[in-house]
Amino acid sequence: MNICVIGTGYVGLVTGAVFAELGNDVICVDSAAEKIDLLNKNKIPFFEPGLEEMVVRNRNEERLSFTTDIARGVRASEIIFICVNTPTLDNGETDLAYIKSAARDIALALNGDKTIVNKSTVPVGTGDLVLETINEHKNEGFNVDVVSNPEFLREGSAIRDALSPDRIIIGASTKKVAFRLMELYATLEAPILITNLYTAEIIKYASNAFLATKISFINSIANLCEQTGADVEDVARGMGYDKRIGRDFLNAGLGFGGSCFPKDVKSLLSTSAGFGYRFDILKHVMETNNGRAAHFLELIKTRFPDLNGKTVAVLGLSFKPDTDDMREAKSIEIIKALLEESVIIQAYDPVAMQRAREMFPDIRYCRNAYEACDGADAMLLVTEWREFRLLNMEKIKNSMKHPIIFDGRNIYDPERKKRLGFEYYCFGRGKWPKSS
Ligand SMILES: NC(=O)c1ccc[n+]([C@@H]2O[C@H](COP(=O)([O-])OP(=O)(O)OC[C@H]3O[C@@H](n4cnc5c(N)ncnc54)[C@H](O)[C@@H]3O)[C@@H](O)[C@H]2O)c1
Repeated sequence: MNICVIGTGYVGLVTGAVFAELGNDVICVDSAAEKIDLLNKNKIPFFEPGLEEMVVRNRNEERLSFTTDIARGVRASEIIFICVNTPTLDNGETDLAYIKSAARDIALALNGDKTIVNKSTVPVGTGDLVLETINEHKNEGFNVDVVSNPEFLREGSAIRDALSPDRIIIGASTKKVAFRLMELYATLEAPILITNLYTAEIIKYASNAFLATKISFINSIANLCEQTGADVEDVARGMGYDKRIGRDFLNAGLGFGGSCFPKDVKSLLSTSAGFGYRFDILKHVMETNNGRAAHFLELIKTRFPDLNGKTVAVLGLSFKPDTDDMREAKSIEIIKALLEESVIIQAYDPVAMQRAREMFPDIRYCRNAYEACDGADAMLLVTEWREFRLLNMEKIKNSMKHPIIFDGRNIYDPERKKRLGFEYYCFGRGKWPKSS
């Protein structure tokens, strides 16, 4: 099938590469010329395991190409995927300007009947908006169907998620339109749910908001554990054995960041309010999450009432492991607060340092975790990269000025760290020290 993918960000590029890998002819379009230039040189604008190889292979086999010319992509394709960004406006609403602009450009380029598939995460009713925008700008005589096919891939495992999704959601006005898209997914072994457009749009938000709720829930339990001396890790384990609950997303720590959860929870809150419904649970989910970095800093300040001039190792900068995405990363809030206290920061992240430099040009970036910890008064574990679980802690301890760990993701075993001679702090594993 001939496919056009509009937007070559995390979702669009992975979608384009995977559909090409499945044997389709794919044209990926982006309005950002610098991204297209990079892609045409076989360079990927962001870090995603396995993506570069897949892009290069499919470009070489001429199933995948990149352009800024949306009209070319639209004219050559039967199915057009919209994968543009949908950021949050200051008032919490979703900014649909990129969606509208893509819809208008599609309409102006139409040369036949097309199926327009929205993969971007958009508030309920956006499918109608896309169709209205296209109808407003298109020439008479061409028929357009709009389908919602929300994307659930996770950065860091995007290729695997796209090739083996837990489910495929197709929201369409008729079964006939839905079946057209189903054909494209026929080779993937995944349950397919066909529903209407509004339902498909809500499924995406409901899923992300529910996962975010799990995270804020366990973080609230961690707060209680800190008051009582209980251990949140055992609580999560004890809860997780219950199949109705499951262990995933019950990890106490600094909370969620990234380009999806905060944005999607805010958007669902705002959409609900627009329909006159107060989605109060989600307000608390956001409040709890927004308080996590401050809670971590409070712990650090209990141990170091005067941080001025202290040297701190910050391990992990991206919003989660296996990505260089820094959007709404917890490291940003933490580094900003530490800089205000005149802390000297020695940071290390396996892939996100280039992006971090754009935000914090003046902190010291290190070649590895050992260099970051060298001479430090404390180590702050901010992103749970696998390599941080495997560090030679004896070496770290000997190089630090004070062997103190603040574990923002609860990845270490407190008893082992204490046996090794570290002062160790984390979330919800026993009572917190009282400030002096
Ligand atoms: N990143 C994720 O993990 C993820 C997962 C599932 C769903 N989503 C959703 O998918 C959508 C895209 O997310 P992303 O992370 O890939 O965004 P992104 O910001 O990485 O990429 C979006 C791309 O679209 C391009 N673009 C914007 N308007 C355009 C237009 N009119 N014509 C051509 N190109 C245009 C931008 O230049 C950019 O390269 C969002 O709605 C997001 O919520 C993201």
